[in-house]
Amino acid sequence: MKPAAPPRTYRVKSFGCQMNVYDGERMGELLAERGIAPASEGEEADLVILNTCHIREKAQEKVYSDIGRLVAAGKEKGKAPLIAVAGCVAQAEGEEIMARAPAVSIVVGPQAYHRLPEMLDKAEKGERATDTDMPAIAKFDALPARRKRGPSAFLTVQEGCDKFCTYCVVPYTRGAEISRPFKDLVAEAHKLVEAGAKEITLLGQNVNAWAGEDERGRPVGLGGLIRMLARIDGLARIRYTTSHPNDMDDDLIAAHGEVEKLMPYLHLPVQAGNDRILKAMNRQHTAEGYLRLIERFRAARPDIALSGDFIVGFPGETEAEFADTLSIVDAVRYAACFSFKYSPRPGTPAAALENQIAPEVMDDRLQRLQARIGQHQLAFNRASVGTRCEVLVERKGRHPGQWLGKSPWLQSVWIEGEAAIGDLVAVELAEAGPNSLKGLPIY
Ligand code: 5AD
Ligand code: SF4
Repeated sequence: MKPAAPPRTYRVKSFGCQMNVYDGERMGELLAERGIAPASEGEEADLVILNTCHIREKAQEKVYSDIGRLVAAGKEKGKAPLIAVAGCVAQAEGEEIMARAPAVSIVVGPQAYHRLPEMLDKAEKGERATDTDMPAIAKFDALPARRKRGPSAFLTVQEGCDKFCTYCVVPYTRGAEISRPFKDLVAEAHKLVEAGAKEITLLGQNVNAWAGEDERGRPVGLGGLIRMLARIDGLARIRYTTSHPNDMDDDLIAAHGEVEKLMPYLHLPVQAGNDRILKAMNRQHTAEGYLRLIERFRAARPDIALSGDFIVGFPGETEAEFADTLSIVDAVRYAACFSFKYSPRPGTPAAALENQIAPEVMDDRLQRLQARIGQHQLAFNRASVGTRCEVLVERKGRHPGQWLGKSPWLQSVWIEGEAAIGDLVAVELAEAGPNSLKGLPIY
């Protein structure tokens, strides 16, 4: 490859989960230290980072089509960007990407992106660079200080997964569970708040498996971390995602009733409603156990909104077993859900199972599940009409004087009137749709 001029501008395209969004922001901060600025809207960037997701087939295929598009656009303009592939596809298929896509200069895994500057040095000399090492936690220490753009910030507290659900690549791409140290997280949260964050969402593949030691060396779990962060002046809201049912403890549940800044919302994936399927998925809990856990959260915080993840068409799933998924959706009355067709991931145990489900059966089940979820989502939104709450304004709406923000239950709320990004506006909720509500400001 011929040497490339040092890039002046960059764009990070993040796919998949919020963890990738967080990583994308941190890569941006590294590049900013090097004097590389974010490309403005519509401008071609000199360096494009595809921050990829490997969780389902479609997400993975996007990478190759995006590389193709970047190469074609570069040819047309006579100026190709430097292309870096980051994230979980980079981790899982680094070598294959290098072989299949000569236009790619850098392949960097999710645990190695703090070494992006050295890799850029190489790329600028015309060499290609790959780094998919998984060092423990060195990454976070090597990253520059936080810079904030909006009022809602992500903070990765835990990475990796030891659960090995049989369909999932995460334990392979993100590695074993690790918790970042308490004091580093408190310091980073302070930085985020100083930089304007009003809300912090604590992130982890198994965020509720986070464990550490407080400032006096006592063992502390996620509930304790949340209680500590709630003491930060200027921080109004705390959220966390994603949790596993088996890592819940009494203190975290109690925190929902006791910590005012902890929002009444819980994302707790169950994946399926049938015990045979849950066992085949290696979820290590039953449908009944999950429902009992939800009851404990509701006892601590009666207005808590629930959300979940579902997979339809796991190998061998019968119609009756799928019906149990619909039943659990009815039993929980979720406020929101994410649902997916099972996608066999190379190297995972479920991919090797016989009796894979036909695509048209999966399509049909997904459609029925999403219709059912939609009914509950609309019912949840309708039930909140007439209630008063605060909306954290996150961005401008389409028309002047219109603003979009989030309710404590993570509903999207439109408001009209005097406001600014970052304001907490008191509203009465009105006019509920499936995906948003209108808020009438109370002055
Ligand atoms: N196929 C379909 N969905 C999957 N998920 C994880 N792995 C797969 C797979 N192989 C879903 C799960 C998980 C969410 C992040 O993605 O529902 O909770
Ligand atoms: Fe994947 Fe299961 Fe771990 Fe979630 S708990 S990241 S679904 S292996």
